[in-house]
Amino acid sequence: MRLNIQNFQLAAQSSLPRFVYDYVAGGAEDELCLARNQADLQALTLAPRSLRDTSALSTEIEVFGRRWSAPFGVAPVGLIDVVRPRGDLHAARAAGKAGLPYILSTASNSPLEQVREACAGPCWMQLYVMQDRGMANSILDRARQTGFEALVLTVDVPVGGYREKDIRHGFKLPFRPGPRLLLDMASQPRWLWHQALAGQPQFVNLMPTEGASSAQAQAALLARSMDRRLIWDDVSWLRSKWDGPVLIKGVLHPEDARQALHYGVDGLIVSNHGGRQLDCAPSTISVLPQIMDIVKTQMPVFIDSGFRRGSDVAKAIACGATGAFLGRAVAYGLAQGGEQGVAQVLGLVAQELERTMVLLGASCPADLAQCLVSSTK
Ligand code: FNR
Repeated sequence: MRLNIQNFQLAAQSSLPRFVYDYVAGGAEDELCLARNQADLQALTLAPRSLRDTSALSTEIEVFGRRWSAPFGVAPVGLIDVVRPRGDLHAARAAGKAGLPYILSTASNSPLEQVREACAGPCWMQLYVMQDRGMANSILDRARQTGFEALVLTVDVPVGGYREKDIRHGFKLPFRPGPRLLLDMASQPRWLWHQALAGQPQFVNLMPTEGASSAQAQAALLARSMDRRLIWDDVSWLRSKWDGPVLIKGVLHPEDARQALHYGVDGLIVSNHGGRQLDCAPSTISVLPQIMDIVKTQMPVFIDSGFRRGSDVAKAIACGATGAFLGRAVAYGLAQGGEQGVAQVLGLVAQELERTMVLLGASCPADLAQCLVSSTK
């Protein structure tokens, strides 16, 4: 029985080849940041308010003029087709049906036009800016024409994190599996069958013209380093290319929250990439209060990294966040049954959040701000 996200994770561990599971579940270097995210969330306690009428509970929020059924959504996960072919489409469909937002990765494997069509809910585009600005321009044009509602600029990958598990497995792009990886793949015939039918995942949204190049050439493009000259002034360049809201994902320092306000950014996603980048980074929940001290109510602040329970979402909102995003939890659901698996994961977290809110005496997400937040650390 899958009663929680941890159960989905264990099921993914036994149904995916080891290298795929480690690609999703792993973190950078010693995986300290990965562990810190969850440990710091778990250490927080919320003291409930008593004797409150919660009979008319609603988890809904409104963000940039769109209604979300609950204050959480799906974070961008690149190369998701190694978990399940057409993974972006499955996950976007499930999120849309649940009334939750979906963020599509630059490194996604389904054409962004198809994902936008599959997603009935709010759909945002995540952007990595590479040295070749033509690629960013092309994604921006396509995303705008297709009706993506917001742009999420990820800023915590000026260089790829040092993920030792991937290196040890020999999992790198372009993907040329050696004997060890082939054995690993053969150990999961069901997974192999799905993958064999679909063919090797391609980074279709990185190409100016869809399908214009081989998987190898695309992988080489991705490997070509990110644009490390990207600075705050470039937000103005993005602004000139994008009419809708612009969010910055990967901010951890309060002074960067101040910069974001200065440059007219519309929202933040406080993130350490789920512990996949800077291993000595703080957990996101630990820096959220300082960021909220600066931002106050001037723009929505979202958070991700380590969120596995509805109560984690409640904790973030009690600390001032507008909502949270889930990365790996969704990938684990996808591994267990495509769209249906993702729907189960999202439904589980929504139910947990509702129950937590009733127990806390909160009728709506805004009420969570009245809880007393403490830490057992
Ligand atoms: C990611 N993440 C990510 N973020 C991003 O902006 N663009 C991307 O392409 C990816 N790709 C990606 C792949 C995989 C396998 C994972 C697990 C994560 C980071 C993601 O959006 C999010 O910040 C974290 O996943 C949040 O942490 P949790 O929920 O996974 O603990």
